[in-house]
Amino acid sequence: MEQPPLTPMSLGALLGRIAHEWETRGRIFDLMSARIWKPDPDVDLSFDFLGRPAATPIGPAAGPHTQMAQNIVLAWLGGSRIFELKTVQVIDDLDIARPCIDMETIGYNIEWSQELAVPVTIDEYVKAWMIIEILKRWEPLREYLGDDTGPMVFDMSVGYDLEGISSDKVRNFIETMKDASERIEALRSEIPDPFLEFRDLEFPPAISDTLTLSTFHGCPPDEIDAIVRYLMTEHDLDVIVKLNPTLLGFEDVESMLHDTLGYDDVTVTREAFDADLQFDRAVTLIGELGTFADSLGRKFGIKLSNTLVVSNEKGWLPDDPMYLSGPPLHVISSTILDRLVTELPGVFDLPGQGGDRIVSFSAGVRKENVSDTIAMGVGPATICTDLLKPGGYGRLKPTLKALAADIAASGQSSLTAWKQTKLAEARANGHRDWVASHIASIVGDDIGLYNKEGNSKKLREVDNELQMWGCVACNLCVTVCPNDAFVKLPSPNRLASEIGGRWQYLVFAELCNECGNCMTFCPEVGDPAQIKPKLWLDEARFEGAEGQGFLLVASGRGIVPIASEGWEHEIPTLAAVIAGDQGVPIRATDI
Ligand SMILES: Cc1cc2nc3c(=O)[nH]c(=O)nc-3n(C[C@H](O)[C@H](O)[C@H](O)COP(=O)(O)O)c2cc1C
Ligand code: SF4
Ligand code: SF4
Repeated sequence: MEQPPLTPMSLGALLGRIAHEWETRGRIFDLMSARIWKPDPDVDLSFDFLGRPAATPIGPAAGPHTQMAQNIVLAWLGGSRIFELKTVQVIDDLDIARPCIDMETIGYNIEWSQELAVPVTIDEYVKAWMIIEILKRWEPLREYLGDDTGPMVFDMSVGYDLEGISSDKVRNFIETMKDASERIEALRSEIPDPFLEFRDLEFPPAISDTLTLSTFHGCPPDEIDAIVRYLMTEHDLDVIVKLNPTLLGFEDVESMLHDTLGYDDVTVTREAFDADLQFDRAVTLIGELGTFADSLGRKFGIKLSNTLVVSNEKGWLPDDPMYLSGPPLHVISSTILDRLVTELPGVFDLPGQGGDRIVSFSAGVRKENVSDTIAMGVGPATICTDLLKPGGYGRLKPTLKALAADIAASGQSSLTAWKQTKLAEARANGHRDWVASHIASIVGDDIGLYNKEGNSKKLREVDNELQMWGCVACNLCVTVCPNDAFVKLPSPNRLASEIGGRWQYLVFAELCNECGNCMTFCPEVGDPAQIKPKLWLDEARFEGAEGQGFLLVASGRGIVPIASEGWEHEIPTLAAVIAGDQGVPIRATDI
């Protein structure tokens, strides 16, 4: 049988890893303590997500950062308090071509939904939930997290048709997320030694009761309508519909990409637009679904936007079409928001509009534009592309700090009051509101943040063939990996000159889905995920794998590696590296 692309670590192993890393290197899943977000008591960043409070308005968008438990925990440590979980659908054994992520300049990908089987996905979300509840209370972190980490929201995402969404598999997913007591009880006994005091913790059983519907991959309007009604009536959920950038129409998107932003190398095709929801129908749909939600006492909102389908002319990703994200998408999605506000005055919950429908936003949000984005009134602003750039989850804290600093500089102490200040500022400058003001700046003074010229910087290159041991030790493979599959370990002194460099880089092979992101950013020539030592914990997966690899096994001496055929000569070096000062962050008891 074909191997699954990912095999998550158990709750016990993840918690063991947290304790080990914190003790030996003051990090958690490779995130430095300096990148852990501590709320500023003078600035209240909280916002209301479909009636639920969340302590900050940013978080990871549905994508690689919300797929596995450690990813979600990393995003939370960075300050996210809202998580758009990776999309779940009935087909949960997708065969995705690799590499599937290209973040060299703007973003492209050929990913779909969750790669884990639905029951495994459920456990990843439950494990993340439990770990966060534990870390909130874990004394060693108090100094870094502050006394009150504030409320957070896990928002489910499902796709892509009613038949799949109403299948037993997806129904069970939704209902388990609404009440995960059984899974929590089943996992509780895995809580290991340094966290034993939390074995009896009362973990809140309701992990999520909101849902964002991904309308990607050609979900027709009537289907969207039927799914939202189904989710509200059958599952009692408050729902957001995630719309596609095709809503702006072929001509406008093409002219925006080519004429305004200079992306002459990006090709959109008319057919992809014709197959998707059209603007006029979206306007009626938003009205109808809002009325329907009101009749049930439920909440409804929209999300702008999913990725843009484009032709794959670059040829680096092995599928066609591919999906564009990042800076140019920001301009498209903001323009869609402007048009919707014009078409539907008083409908959206935005400053100056006074409506009820919230607008969630995900399109090229990053530190440089987070304030201008959130000042539009959107919330949350979820992020994918920027978190796949160097620094990874460590980019969240500076993003939040930039927002908090702008609020404080305006003399305000809360996000809500600050948005009104920004509305007044926009009006004083002759704009309808901050949405209109933002549009003017992103195609005006700030265009360098969004156009091709501002997003074409070449990545650093070193003319050297990457080897298993030694490299320029830039650490990029560690930070750009959404799954924290890479780990760095200090070279043992006696080997430093022999194997080169102070640091060695190793991959937890079961956490690597060969997405290609570390290969994009590695300045040396070669794919780190294939060349650096691959560490396996699961014997069957190790035996089924090709190429170099090392099975970690527990022995009386701690953890010892066994090599795949032909790689035995590397054992002495590997054994010395993993037994070094910091050690591989796995406890022998978890293997
Ligand atoms: C690699 C990758 C995987 C994604 N997977 C999903 C997904 O499973 N479901 C979904 O609704 N959106 C998915 N998205 C879209 C993001 O959630 C987000 O809406 C989009 O990338 C725009 O935000 P950004 O510009 O910050 O990346 C994915 C995006 C990327 C780059
Ligand atoms: S190790 Fe590299 S290829 Fe593997 S998941 Fe991480 S970034 Fe992707
Ligand atoms: S493998 Fe590449 S990306 Fe990773 S630290 Fe070495 S040089 Fe940097």
